[in-house]
Amino acid sequence: MTLAIEGLCAAYGEIEVLHGISLSVEKGQLIALLGANGAGKSTAIKAIMGLVKPTAGRVLLDGRDIAGEAAHLAARAGIVLVPEGRRIFKKMTVEENLQVGGVVRSAAEVRERLADIYALFPTLGERRRQIGGTLSGGEQQMLAIGRALMSRPSFILMDEPSLGLAPLVVERVHQAIDRIRREMGIGGILVEQNVVIALGVASHAYVLMRGSVVLSGDPKTLAASPQLKEAYLGMG
Ligand SMILES: Nc1ncnc2c1ncn2[C@@H]1O[C@H](COP(=O)(O)OP(=O)(O)O)[C@@H](O)[C@H]1O
Ligand SMILES: [Mg+2]
Repeated sequence: MTLAIEGLCAAYGEIEVLHGISLSVEKGQLIALLGANGAGKSTAIKAIMGLVKPTAGRVLLDGRDIAGEAAHLAARAGIVLVPEGRRIFKKMTVEENLQVGGVVRSAAEVRERLADIYALFPTLGERRRQIGGTLSGGEQQMLAIGRALMSRPSFILMDEPSLGLAPLVVERVHQAIDRIRREMGIGGILVEQNVVIALGVASHAYVLMRGSVVLSGDPKTLAASPQLKEAYLGMG
């Protein structure tokens, strides 16, 4: 299964902020979307989800164009978003938070999926009765990702999951992200500002600068590219 974006454009009012970006990811593959603050990373994944309506271009899921479909339709098509900022239900327990992600499933299926999530994130299993708001930042991030996985998506889009986390916690979150790909066979788009981290887990990366892909390639090629630094400093 392939998720491919072709010539995707998006605007806020009159101002176009995505100028025709293209990328693709296979099930079981993790790609990274890099770029400085304001480059258009969040807009790109919102446009893939249908949270921002694309003004042009296609979002192809195995060749079928889902561009502009509402977010709940994208979710039904097997694409889920873990938005920026770890939006969990702070007053609900860990397990209740996860159950919200699997509401339309049978009780047996929900149990099976909970077991999968607890295998992926043992900490969540240990804390299943704990109130979400009392978890550490890293645990809340794992919970947000776990909740998205409850629908057994084909693709998961993650918007800066490591933002504001301590380096050691970032490492653990990324190990889990790698296991989502390897053990669950799920495809992923990881939005990251931290190049080093992203290139450590993704097999391919795209660098956005002011709404356009200016650079893409495998981690080795990108790490060696002088253009990478330029894109990050936001210089043209
Ligand atoms: N809701 C919005 N309304 C107007 N402009 C926005 C909105 N969200 C983002 N932008 C603008 O779109 C551009 C891309 O933003 P964004 O996609 O959030 O970038 P990134 O996620 O790479 O930091 C920025 O110039 C930002 O100011
Ligand atoms: Mg963003």
